[in-house]
Amino acid sequence: HAHLLGIAQLKPWEICFLLDEAEQWVELNRSASKHADRLAGLTQINAFFENSTRTLLSFEIAGKRLGADVVNLGVSGSSVKKGETLLDTALTLNAMHPDMIVIRHGSSGAVQLISEKVDCPVLNAGDGRHEHPTQALLDALTIRRRKGRIAGLKVAICGDILHSRVARSNFMLLGALGAEVRAVAPPTLLPAGLDGYCVESFTDMDAGLAGADVVMMLRLQTERMEGAYVPSPREYFRFYGLTEARLAKAAPDVLVMHPGPMNRGVEIDGAIADDIARSAVTEQVEMGVAVRMACLDVLTRRRRGVEGWA
Ligand code: CP
Repeated sequence: HAHLLGIAQLKPWEICFLLDEAEQWVELNRSASKHADRLAGLTQINAFFENSTRTLLSFEIAGKRLGADVVNLGVSGSSVKKGETLLDTALTLNAMHPDMIVIRHGSSGAVQLISEKVDCPVLNAGDGRHEHPTQALLDALTIRRRKGRIAGLKVAICGDILHSRVARSNFMLLGALGAEVRAVAPPTLLPAGLDGYCVESFTDMDAGLAGADVVMMLRLQTERMEGAYVPSPREYFRFYGLTEARLAKAAPDVLVMHPGPMNRGVEIDGAIADDIARSAVTEQVEMGVAVRMACLDVLTRRRRGVEGWA
């Protein structure tokens, strides 16, 4: 089966194909009807074992706009709470004959494990610190639409890189499409071994932002910092928060991005996030629906007997 487990598995042309496919859905979503029937009769399960606002809702809206029957399983309402294993949960979902399963899980690799046990395409909606491929795709679509290109852009990804699946997927995707990618973080939140990703590392925020065309801010993932040093919000904002003074180091037409959820006054000044001339935060959410429509459509093409790459 064709799965979408991570950006690592995609070739540059496949990334571009998904972005190109998403364009039609941006148009549809802005139209009066907002509806297509491409996935009519198919069953989509969204199994989310970690909290989500944007990813869960946009996958649900994406499936419904394409005519699929969409059902959601949230961890608080599932039998995982009663001790059911991940594999038993996977076999249970599979027994209901879904046509696509979208999974978010707190453990890196859990989505791949499930994909090996089921008979339909599996889409990774974020697994631990590993990957969040549809986030990177929606970020790329947002950048491409705002800047007209990705190749050659200086993109600074700033904040808690260590715990961020969003950063990892973006390093791979933006690198594959020819951007000059920087990782900007406190030394304690900058993972070793970034060389494999073809990114330049900075621990000084001003140096990392110098001349950047795109600045992507990340929140502190305190839920993944058990037992580690957690900076206070005030201390963090002072050294790594995105302020007007810091943003002045970037290119004059800099684009500010954030995958959400944002912590205003911790990693980003709220006024910058709200400035729609420079900030693409809500546009990223809009692109998320279109990108997820493209992924659901393309990954189920073989199943539907339609020509496609997957
Ligand atoms: N960006 C993102 O994954 O947001 P959610 O956690 O709300 O889905």
